Amino acid sequence: MAIDYSQLIPNNVDLGSDRRLQRALENWQPRFLDWWKDMGPDGTAAFEVYLRTAISVDANGWANFGYVKMPDYRWGIFLAGQDPDRQIAYGDSKGKPAWQDVPGELRSTLRRLIVTQGDTEPASVEQQRLLGKTAPSLYDLRNLFQINVEEGRHLWAMVYLLHAYFGRDGREEAEALLERHSGDPDKPRILGAFNERTPDWLSFFMFTFFTDRDGKYQLASLAESGFDPLARSCRFMLTEEAHHMFVGETGISRIIQRTCELMKEHKTDDVRALGAIDLPTMQKYLNFHFSVSLDLFGQEASTNAANYYTMGVKGRFLETRIDDDHLLTGSSYEIETIEDGRIVKKAVPALQALNERLRQDYIEDCARGVLRWNKIIEKAGVNFEMKLPHRGFDRRIGAFTGSRVSPDGTVLSEVEWKANEAKWLPTDEDRAYVTSLMGPAVVQPGKFAHWIAPPARGINGQPADFEYVRFN
Ligand SMILES: [Fe+2]
Ligand SMILES: [Fe+2]
Repeated sequence: MAIDYSQLIPNNVDLGSDRRLQRALENWQPRFLDWWKDMGPDGTAAFEVYLRTAISVDANGWANFGYVKMPDYRWGIFLAGQDPDRQIAYGDSKGKPAWQDVPGELRSTLRRLIVTQGDTEPASVEQQRLLGKTAPSLYDLRNLFQINVEEGRHLWAMVYLLHAYFGRDGREEAEALLERHSGDPDKPRILGAFNERTPDWLSFFMFTFFTDRDGKYQLASLAESGFDPLARSCRFMLTEEAHHMFVGETGISRIIQRTCELMKEHKTDDVRALGAIDLPTMQKYLNFHFSVSLDLFGQEASTNAANYYTMGVKGRFLETRIDDDHLLTGSSYEIETIEDGRIVKKAVPALQALNERLRQDYIEDCARGVLRWNKIIEKAGVNFEMKLPHRGFDRRIGAFTGSRVSPDGTVLSEVEWKANEAKWLPTDEDRAYVTSLMGPAVVQPGKFAHWIAPPARGINGQPADFEYVRFN
């Protein structure tokens, strides 16, 4: 179904045919806009931003680019196309037709999954709300705002499901999604990583590389859900999500490139004296964002994860491409855990290990990005290698909680940890230094802050010196 833009809420779900639902969502819409005004990018209401807006859900040509004031962005409800023959690919309902409505016994489970996913979307907008003031270029400012409006749209995607399929409980959850706020001591966001601050652009690029990528893996496993409207929502969200990770990966690449250029040009490792970000500091930020994001996958062995799978509500990454029985009742999976102060491998029932399996898929994906960063360093002739820390490093959730594990995977005493912590995680001084580089936003087209290289190409075929944001 085509996207109907004549409606107050653009959609491809024939919203106009369900007056009650339409009214309920039209009631929520002004509250969303109030939230955007209060908690979205600060002081930007009049800016005209070169943004993409979804005009179709087809893989080819789904987006339209043009100048938009963000409060006028057409946030809407877009589900990927329906496959009328789609069957559930795994678990107890394997081979049955996908559900077009919520099975009664799965109601609270599905609601919880949707709320948890939905909560992360506005949270990241809140975390990033001040970054526009220190943007290193118009190009980067535009990318930040593109991500922000799309996270807003992802909230819409989850709120639609809550309103359409969960009755009054769903409407209450939709309200609560606007009432919790990132870092709020009384009403925090649900997941830890979404209550951390994103105070500078190095953190922002690390966040979009590591934490938006967690989003990719959560969305991909929900895209396998037996509940078809959720699966179709997540499929389209994944299309948008790719750009967020691109911004993170290329952002870090450009900082690395700039740092390496300065190291070569001045024959020094001490690039702080030159106003750039040294590679060891980048490694520390990487360590922090990677471990915080690993926590988002949950416990290594989890009965919840097993139940989600068996019930058919949450599958594995690319479930239908995996060559096994899709029941997993007889198989096992090796996880890493700590026993008697040592890291050991332990086989657990594969059904219980689904969080860990998804985390493993995620780690491999992250590693491919790090490899590309290292290529840039190598090509510059600099002797340094970025590394993902061990999965047990600085964890707050799961088997490694309470243990001290070095980036290379050695279990440490508290004394050893304390002696090295400042080498592995950003110190107050590191953060103060990075913050000190974040000057007033660079607003001249084609100009870039000193610590970051220009991008290889612009957005939508535009040049790097295009006027991506117009201030009014
Ligand atoms: Fe998102
Ligand atoms: Fe995202």
